[in-house]
Amino acid sequence: MAEALPNPDATPTAPSASASIESVLHEERRFEPPAAFASQARIGSIQAYRALVAEAEADPDAFWGAWARQELHWFTPFEKVLDWSDPPSARWFEGGTTNLAYNCLDRHLEGPRADKLALIWEGEPGDERRFTYRQLHAEVCKAANALRSLGIGKGDLVALYMPMVPEAAIAMLACARIGAPHSVVFGGFSAEALRDRLIDGDAKAVITADGGFRKDKAVALKPAVDAALAGGVCPTLKHVLVVRRTGEPTAMEAGRDLWWHDLVDSQSPECPAEPMASEDRLFVLYTSGSTGKPKGVVHTTAGYNLWAHLTFQWIFDIRDDDIHWCTADVGWITGHSYIVYGPLSNGATTVMYEGAPRPSKPGAFWEVIEKHRCTIFYTAPTAIRAFMKGGREVPDRSDLTSLRLLGTVGEPINPEAWMWYRDVIGGNRCPVVDTWWQTETGGVMISPLPGATATKPGSCTLPLPGIAADVVDLEGRSVGVDQGGYLAVRRPWPGMMRTVHGDHERFRKSYWEHIPPINGEYIYFAGDGARRDADGYFWVMGRVDDVINVSGHRLGTMEIESALVSHPAVAEAAVVGRPDELKGEAIVAFVSLEGGRSGDAALEAELRRHVGQEIGPIARPDLIRFSDVLPKTRSGKIMRRLLRSLAAGQEVSGDISTLEDRSVLDTLRV
Ligand code: PRX
Repeated sequence: MAEALPNPDATPTAPSASASIESVLHEERRFEPPAAFASQARIGSIQAYRALVAEAEADPDAFWGAWARQELHWFTPFEKVLDWSDPPSARWFEGGTTNLAYNCLDRHLEGPRADKLALIWEGEPGDERRFTYRQLHAEVCKAANALRSLGIGKGDLVALYMPMVPEAAIAMLACARIGAPHSVVFGGFSAEALRDRLIDGDAKAVITADGGFRKDKAVALKPAVDAALAGGVCPTLKHVLVVRRTGEPTAMEAGRDLWWHDLVDSQSPECPAEPMASEDRLFVLYTSGSTGKPKGVVHTTAGYNLWAHLTFQWIFDIRDDDIHWCTADVGWITGHSYIVYGPLSNGATTVMYEGAPRPSKPGAFWEVIEKHRCTIFYTAPTAIRAFMKGGREVPDRSDLTSLRLLGTVGEPINPEAWMWYRDVIGGNRCPVVDTWWQTETGGVMISPLPGATATKPGSCTLPLPGIAADVVDLEGRSVGVDQGGYLAVRRPWPGMMRTVHGDHERFRKSYWEHIPPINGEYIYFAGDGARRDADGYFWVMGRVDDVINVSGHRLGTMEIESALVSHPAVAEAAVVGRPDELKGEAIVAFVSLEGGRSGDAALEAELRRHVGQEIGPIARPDLIRFSDVLPKTRSGKIMRRLLRSLAAGQEVSGDISTLEDRSVLDTLRV
């Protein structure tokens, strides 16, 4: 696999990165934390940050142990902070028992926080629901009792396929409460994608809804669950619990399907939280990698809880009167960590929004901020670029003065978008935190601390205390200042994924042995290219493997290729990313057809639809090029680097001496 990686130094594969590398290299703007912000911040100076870094480096176990004791509730205290005797299997906080739902709810019920707002939900047609900690606790207990009444308990995997409604968060917390790991499947994934995830996880139940509202209309969800389960493909699955959201007619299968309100509403609002061992499985979340099959990233109870909690507290510098809004979907890790678990574990008020900006309502986000007086806003660069295009007059119509902190996540942000965000949305008053992390890392790894770190547009700045991030070559050696290399982490951290569900070997190989361990030192390989400047600041350039990042959504090129070749007309397919001003990357597919058939617009549309059906609309190629043959080396490997250059409209550079048939280049130019 190593030779399949392009040299990140020479050819960064991240398009938005390559688009911005010029400006990255010449980026000299620097913004100190505003004095007013720093003076009130939890970590209010670079010296305070450096002191934490030094403390963590001097004795990592003592450092993490102290935070874990201070920040989490333990039914039983842990005996050992980290067992790393069998790397890359990590065991954190062994001997301890805790419960994530308890930490997110019960512990806030003593004292004034009980009646503080925990969750503000803004529905797409303009409806709204609010829950105090006391109310959310009661709802979660009822849902937990409902799951228990179905015979679901510790260790039973429950899948969630939900729109952005409060019941999504309630169901996640209910699962955590009874020790049933959840597997949230993004509601935009297709029935096929859902089926794969249900089967892979041996799910015992699915929680879904009749539908949700997307862009001014009701969209059904439940039929996809029916389609996913058709033919009895998932024998472990006995129950489907359906939240009524849209009220549209919905087919219910007797003996399997139950309405949420019929089962949950009558349950007792008390349900003791199950004491969970620190390393008990908390959730599985599927994400795309370099192979055709998405992998189930496994997170466990205490380490994940601590990481979501601590990163939220540090990075958002959380205060008791904050109204935090993260625009992600709960189907992604960002929604897990920074809509639900991080905020609630800290006793903060979190906003959840069902809708999205759309032509009929371009200012939707800004109206939510104004209406709920949000103080923290966390979104993806793609959204910012789209807003930039729409012009500042749209956000200028709303009162955004409640904001005090802005964040971005999910993809590299170009300095222009960063500057616009800071100016137009943040009124040049709010610090901007560009947070680098992954599904696998559980929470943020590299980010400014808003009261401490000077920011530079386009850089995610410095690793959090205790995170031994580095930029290395494939031998694990640190590369020099401003040289490209691979983003890596040299030490385990509490929020790290523990395994790939059902495939520990894959976990070991893809993440910890990609850079061969030297002298027993295991290095985590993130799959991103990066460089570090003279101040030690990280500039992430994007993926160096066969993963592309479309509007902050992570997709495997091989996953899309598998979907394409499952269509009877397709003989071979190669998918690459192409720089896209708005989405970061767009999907370009090179396809050869069966039986010498030639492609046309109708077939292109058909294939796009087919990929939508196999994976979900987000995976539909933006462009499909048909060709009799694909460029291959003499040993038969598709030359992706070359396809990437072609897709980007660049001259094909580098060595093409191994290309079997040079004439194919002319037919493929985009
Ligand atoms: O390439 C990096 C990019 O998103 C990948 C992780 O995707 P996912 O697991 O879906 O998690 C997204 C939300 C955490 C990374 O490997 N990425 C994420 N944040 C940034 C980023 N790239 C550059 N800058 C970021 N701040």
